[in-house]
Amino acid sequence: MTMQTANHPVTFEPASENTRLLRDAFGRFATGVTIVTTGSEDGPVGITANSFSSVSLEPPLVLWMPDKGSRRFQYFEAAEHYAIHVLSHEQAEICSGFARNAQAFDQLTYRTDANGVPLIENCLARFECRRHAAYEGGDHLIVLGEVVQAEMRSGDALTFFAGKLGQITPQ
Ligand SMILES: Cc1cc2nc3c(=O)[nH]c(=O)nc-3n(C[C@H](O)[C@H](O)[C@H](O)COP(=O)(O)O)c2cc1C
Repeated sequence: MTMQTANHPVTFEPASENTRLLRDAFGRFATGVTIVTTGSEDGPVGITANSFSSVSLEPPLVLWMPDKGSRRFQYFEAAEHYAIHVLSHEQAEICSGFARNAQAFDQLTYRTDANGVPLIENCLARFECRRHAAYEGGDHLIVLGEVVQAEMRSGDALTFFAGKLGQITPQ
């Protein structure tokens, strides 16, 4: 008997009972990984985020989406100035650190800019942003920032796909 290994699609109508499925379907979109940082009354804070997207060249705009249910939401909702760091493959530990803890700055090379924003070094790219606008996005907030300073270097990308970290090497 021949075993068939079919790759059947899973079809569903999004509902509150099956958010796991929707999360998994969203996770089929492969992304890079960023750390968003800002200053706060509790000191420097950061969060791992893959909701980053470039938006506009003129004016230079980027977006990301903090979860309204996050304990860190208050910091990022209010932030006038913040920085978005695109991680390289060597920075997987930084990704895990800020997924667990907003204050995961120990063992990191970073400096604080004039606005109190922590700037992590050795990232693939870094965008220093000034708040431009924010839009309602269900259980997330869509935060649009104007890029006031940018930096980049070459290297392999840290990726996130189907719930797992990976790597892309430029050909
Ligand atoms: C790869 C990855 C991407 C993530 N992207 C986002 C994101 O775009 N927005 C967000 O609010 N949280 C995102 N998170 C979750 C946060 O990094 C963090 O784990 C969460 O805020 C922890 O909950 P707390 O803030 O209540 O402590 C992501 C986590 C991982 C591992």
